[in-house]
Amino acid sequence: MADDGDRHRQSRLFTDDDGGFDAERAREESLPVEDGEVIDTDELADHQTYLEGRGIYDERNRVNDLTGKEWKYATKSVIPEGYPPDLQHDLRGEHGGQKPPRLCAELIGRFSKAGDTVLDPFAGVGGTLLGASLCEHEGTGLREAIGFERTRRWVEIYETVLVRENEERRERGDPPLAAQDMRHGDCAELIEGVPDDSVDLLLTDVPYWHMDELEQTRNERRTRESNLGSFDGPAADDADDESAGGDADSTSREAGSTDDEWETKADWLEDMAAKFDRFTDAVTPDGHVVVFIGDMYREQSYEFLAADLARAIESAAPLTLSANLIWYDPTKDLHVYGYPFSFVPSMVHQNVLVFRPDDDSDAN
Ligand SMILES: C[S@@+](CC[C@H](N)C(=O)[O-])C[C@H]1O[C@@H](n2cnc3c(N)ncnc32)[C@H](O)[C@@H]1O
Repeated sequence: MADDGDRHRQSRLFTDDDGGFDAERAREESLPVEDGEVIDTDELADHQTYLEGRGIYDERNRVNDLTGKEWKYATKSVIPEGYPPDLQHDLRGEHGGQKPPRLCAELIGRFSKAGDTVLDPFAGVGGTLLGASLCEHEGTGLREAIGFERTRRWVEIYETVLVRENEERRERGDPPLAAQDMRHGDCAELIEGVPDDSVDLLLTDVPYWHMDELEQTRNERRTRESNLGSFDGPAADDADDESAGGDADSTSREAGSTDDEWETKADWLEDMAAKFDRFTDAVTPDGHVVVFIGDMYREQSYEFLAADLARAIESAAPLTLSANLIWYDPTKDLHVYGYPFSFVPSMVHQNVLVFRPDDDSDAN
């Protein structure tokens, strides 16, 4: 075909020293290049737009704002992302289970579009909310985010982080991060204020069940300030569970509080499944529900909490699991527990469960 001939002729204009196609040079000349080939933009379909430096965007994309090339990268099932000491990390680090805002921004970019609404019903110190704000400056555009958090201290930390971060951004000449809608209270009540089908992405990080180790961790904490990374399973998320009782005021949840609401793993799974069933009413049919969940090692056996939680949610809510991504933290310290007698994994990953709402016809 004449067009193909043209394209090859065009490509030959940009050859490197070995006579191969020099995509770098073609790019410098502002020619559209995708997968190492010059694109003839006249040949793009009506629903395709070439975005300079990013590749071809398909207007039919209802999942995110990514071009084909970016989408391909975003399908990687392992996401390496450390804990950069930024965005007031020291302050946010008071919460043992906080997530890196840039990791949240990465997931928000994969599963939502600019202008979409993101909900985090277990918002902590606001990793998801900060991620949604970062998308305005480091992604394809701002997402509106709503967070529910029942511990007042974590809400206050989110608010302080935003003020301090924006002071620093102003000094650097960077535009401010948008304030998101953090609501203080119990998610089971606050979800009633969110209209059905109004949330495009539910991104959250569930509070943990860990009754067996709770007492031990409490005792440890009396003697030392615990600020472990979130991958340490029960100890790491202890801060969450201190806040997991029914009272919305953090002052009633000091170390030693016994108001944890799950006596067994089955209780925890049942409660989470019922909550996600209710949350799903708020999610649009094209939306996603994305859940961080770390596994645990306990009593010499691996607790595959991600699998347990995925099955519990699928059986209670009109959601289908479509992926289990692995968040790998390369900066995580290794903890050697079993040496030299038994193999105990040093947990440097968490699971990220990705669910899609079932079609109406499939819904229970
Ligand atoms: C794993 S942490 C989330 C951390 C968060 N991703 C961050 O970056 O800070 C779970 C949070 O859920 C909160 N939580 C637990 N039960 C809750 C409930 N019923 N309603 C609202 N928040 C709750 C806990 O206080 C805790 O801060």
